[in-house]
Amino acid sequence: MTTTTTANGTQTAQWIKKDLLGLQSLTAEEIRLVLQTAASFREISLRPIKKVPALRGKTIVNLFFEPSTRTRTSFELAAKRLSADIVNISTQGSSLSKGETVLDTVRNLEALKVDVLVIRHAAAGVPHLIARQSQASVINAGDGAHEHPTQALLDLFTIQEKKGRIEGLTVAIIGDIAHSRVARSNIWGLTKLGARVILCGPPTLIPTQIEALGVKVTHRLEEALAQADVLMLLRIQHERQEAVLVPSLREFRLRYGIDRERLKSAKPDVLIMHPGPVNRGVELDSAVADGPYSVILDQVTNGLAVRMAALYLVSGAPKVEVEENA
Ligand code: CP
Repeated sequence: MTTTTTANGTQTAQWIKKDLLGLQSLTAEEIRLVLQTAASFREISLRPIKKVPALRGKTIVNLFFEPSTRTRTSFELAAKRLSADIVNISTQGSSLSKGETVLDTVRNLEALKVDVLVIRHAAAGVPHLIARQSQASVINAGDGAHEHPTQALLDLFTIQEKKGRIEGLTVAIIGDIAHSRVARSNIWGLTKLGARVILCGPPTLIPTQIEALGVKVTHRLEEALAQADVLMLLRIQHERQEAVLVPSLREFRLRYGIDRERLKSAKPDVLIMHPGPVNRGVELDSAVADGPYSVILDQVTNGLAVRMAALYLVSGAPKVEVEENA
């Protein structure tokens, strides 16, 4: 990102990265620029005609090698709200199912002059590999257990919106940390913006030495509940586990599941967040998922504005004025 101060003291910033691959590689200023751009796009979805010409003439491909509801749909709607053309490709129904490699698929898409590739893959690093090989901009929509940057950005946006700040808050991330790309991206984003992060779950689901990322670890849910301004719940990702790491879902629920009774020991203005999909009755009871502290559907709504911002910025957005302490 480049920042410039004009003669009248106004600060402007410009995104200069080709790709958006993770929050580990973004500065706090770049994260704030995405959040500020998303805030400016949010009202477009409230208009009777939900469309602006910002990306007219751009071509975007959603290339999803893993299932998705929220991410794929909101990238598609984000592209449409900005007047870009968008095509959806998944493994089934494309030549990937006939044995074509990911790189050959991307080379063919490049031959069709696409501008942005939005990629989800089960293997960590695939969007990064494609970004190095491709002229098109690449947005990581989730790579294995590595990063899910736009999810963390929409989580940051939602916390900022609901709490008015991120700096100084305590955010507890609870559940299967070991297999969660959402946890990893949120750890980078939250700590860069000055939040305190507590990771909570059974020892088998928390990587050893993760404290090196500047987070605290506890295996006691009561400890996390007592301190947190935000509770971010994660489902157990059976699809990424090679061994059985918790005795049973019932056991996990008994020790780490959040129900109405447990919520009584949380702060009175706590936020309940979840990236989805929620496994109701395991990490979250329905009374909490649908209750007054839950902002789960606000996260989904904000995901659209954040993905509009991500597409806009990697497509070569012009300089924007930056708010002080935004
Ligand atoms: N949070 C999230 O990535 O949801 P989807 O898998 O439905 O995209």
